[in-house]
Order: sequence, then structure tokens, then C-alpha cells
Amino acid sequence: MKVLTIDDEQIVRENIAAYLEDLDYEVIEAEDGKSGLEIFKTQKPDIVLCDLRMPHMDGLEVLEKIREISPETPIIMISGTGVVHEVVEALRLGAWDYIIKPINDMEVLEYSLNRCIERAQLLRENRLYREHLEEEVRKRTEEIVAKKQEVELTNELLKREINERRLIENRLKNSLTTLEKTIEGTIHTISTIIEMRDPYTGGHQNHVAQLARAIAVEIGLSDEQIQGIYFAGLIHDIGKLAVPIEILVKPGKISKLETLIIQTHAEAGWEILKDISFPWPIAQIALQHHERMDGSGYPSGLKGKHILKEARIIAVADVVESMIFHRPYRPAPGLEKALEEIKTYSGIRYDPEVVETCVKILTNPNFRFIS
Ligand SMILES: [Fe+2]
Repeated sequence: MKVLTIDDEQIVRENIAAYLEDLDYEVIEAEDGKSGLEIFKTQKPDIVLCDLRMPHMDGLEVLEKIREISPETPIIMISGTGVVHEVVEALRLGAWDYIIKPINDMEVLEYSLNRCIERAQLLRENRLYREHLEEEVRKRTEEIVAKKQEVELTNELLKREINERRLIENRLKNSLTTLEKTIEGTIHTISTIIEMRDPYTGGHQNHVAQLARAIAVEIGLSDEQIQGIYFAGLIHDIGKLAVPIEILVKPGKISKLETLIIQTHAEAGWEILKDISFPWPIAQIALQHHERMDGSGYPSGLKGKHILKEARIIAVADVVESMIFHRPYRPAPGLEKALEEIKTYSGIRYDPEVVETCVKILTNPNFRFIS
């Protein structure tokens, strides 16, 4: 510990120095306020003992100046008797303690020094702790602010991404709607072309599509399958474009060869449709709509579950429609005969579930074909 003692009385300085040096203090002496202040600035003592009354610069002025330079350094004023108001002023200006001259009992000085040093240490520790705390708070605040900015940036980026995705989704939805409309338009166009060449096949396909859709709905197929079945119904006989019209509309009995020619329409239909990327198996349905559950159908003689469910539905609707409606080259056998045909061959030629559903629909008085 370094003690600066400022006093104009040499004997006082020497007494103090002798006593404190014995206690292992380093003591620096100054004989007046002015030199004391200079020494304070250069030597930076831990504690100052300062006489109140001195020539040139008195103790109060020294006190004020030291307080300005280093507010944390303890200053103990040493005063003669009878100057109470000056002691009070010194305490008001920030002196830590005071000792009355002459110092008869040096232990009083020692006690005061120890108390001031202890208090100075506490103050310094307190300040360091506060500074450390403030630094911590500042760091944490900076971290929180940085984190907040990071979160805000991430939020902003997420928002942008969500908006972009929504935009893409909307575009996709729009192009899907356009695509669906295009497919629907294409199918209706094909259906119209068939109808223009052969009005009876055209009407037949339209009825088959309606009945097949009603069966698919009643069975509980998915919306996508129902739509596929309806479109397949509309063009399932497209292969008849490859069959001479005279054979198609020939009244009366047709020859074995003519029958074989007509039967080529299933494969011809598949050939026409197979390269169009419909979202439904329309080419397969056209190919299989004359297949029968027992393998007696054409062109491949497929059996049971090897035939698409959609083709099994079109098959029943196809047979029923052709027996209900008249053709210019032959009369219609009628609804009764049509129902008899499918019920008789349910499970043999036709899918039993489809037959049962078809009978239910056709015997419902609310069901009507729209031509
Ligand atoms: Fe057919």
C-alpha cells in the first residue's frame, strides 16, 4: 500500500512515515498542497493523508482536486483542533475520515487507514462487479438483438418462400385446369368425329358413358375413376372408324368374316388411343370392353380380374344399351331382355357386382338417359 502524506509540518510527516513504514506501508511525503498534488498525479498512491491548513494551497483545495482526478482514492484529512467547520466542509467535499492533530495515539491513524482501505477495496470490487455485470448485460443484449434480427430475417425468407410456393401452386392449379379442359375438349371432339360418320354409334357411346358413370358412382369408385369411365364410355368404340360403314349398318344377318372385321374395332381403338397420355387407362378400356369374365370375349380372351374394372363396367353398359335402343337395321330387344341377358350371364360373362348395380339403376324410375 502506498500512502501520500501532505503536511507542512515536517515532524508530523516524519512521525506518520515512521509509524506506517513499520506497518509495511510505502510512504511518500509532500510539504505543501501544490507539490502533494503533483506527486499524487505521478505516483498514484492508494490513500492520501492531507493537512487542512497549509500555505499556497490549503487542504480543501487539494481534496477537491484529488476528488476530480480520482474519486475512488480515500482521503483522510488531518486537522488541528478548533476548526470543526472546516472538517465538516472537508467531509461534505468527499473526505473519507479525519484525524485531529496532534496525533497522540497512532493506532487511531492505523484504524482509520485500515477502515478506509477496506471501504476502498469494497467500492472497487463493487465497481468492477457492476462493470462486469453491465458488460454481461450489454453482451447478452447484443446477442438477443442479433438473434432477434436473425429470426426476423428467417421469418421474412419463410414468408417469401411461402408466397412463391403459393404462386407456383396457383400456376400449377391453373395449368391443371387448362389441361383437364383440353383433355375433355379432345374427347368430345373425337366423340363428335365418330358421331358425324356414324350417328348411331355416336348416340350409343353417349348412352354407354352415362350408364357406366352411374354404375361407377353407385359402386363407390373414386372421382378420378368415375371421370375416366365416363370419358372412356364416350369413345370406347372409336375403333369402328376402321370398320367399313356398310358392315356397321348392314340390316339382317352378318357373315362370319364381317363379324371378324367388326371385332377388330377393339384393337383398332387401342391402336388409335394408346399414344395419348390420358390420366386414365382409356386405351386399355377400349381394348378390353368386349372381354368376358369367363374368357369367351375378344380380342385377348382375358378372364375375371385380368380385365380392368372400368372395362367390366363399360362391357355391361355397352350390352344393355345396345339391347334397349333401336338401330335402323334391327329392332331393340328391349329393357326386359337386356336385364335378362346380364342377370343370366352374371359371373359368367359379366362382373356380378356391376350387373347387380346396373339392374338397380335401370329399375329405378328416376334414371333417364339424356340423348
Ligand atoms: Fe364395342
